[in-house]
Amino acid sequence: MKKTISRIAIMLGISCFLYSCYYDKADILYNHGGAVCDTVSTISYSTNVRPILEQQCYSCHSGSRPSGNIPMGTHIADKALATNGQLYGTINHASGYSPMPEGEAKMDDCSIAKIKKWVDAGSPNN
Ligand code: HEC
Repeated sequence: MKKTISRIAIMLGISCFLYSCYYDKADILYNHGGAVCDTVSTISYSTNVRPILEQQCYSCHSGSRPSGNIPMGTHIADKALATNGQLYGTINHASGYSPMPEGEAKMDDCSIAKIKKWVDAGSPNN
């Protein structure tokens, strides 16, 4: 009887361990809706980052009078914000930065994770 109980305990222990590993991985690959969030592959400015910024930032931050006098929309301009910390600070609603996009909900976690990865990689023009 004692042996059976300890076997069950070990099995439970192992399955809890496997279960938590499964969820660790799931955190990387999925976001809330269950949609796949791939931050493992290389993040490209033109195919991953730019479309997000285009949708959520350029409407205010481009043209002859960009909001806050912060121009965006070219790789050079976007990289400058990435390098000085303003891009990640504003989208992540970090203290000391104005939360962006202004007047809107925080960007989804997957978009923030992709942009962060691009910033950390040195914001290449890829
Ligand atoms: C609806 C218009 C609007 C949108 C959309 C918008 N911004 Fe802004 N942004 C502003 C205004 C207005 C300011 C200047 C006032 C302020 O700082 O809050 C500003 C300021 C900023 C600043 C300088 C302030 C700081 O704390 O560094 C940055 C950087 C910035 N925006 C980045 C972004 C990014 C990145 C996005 C897209 C995720 C975005 N903005 C979307 C209107 C907008």
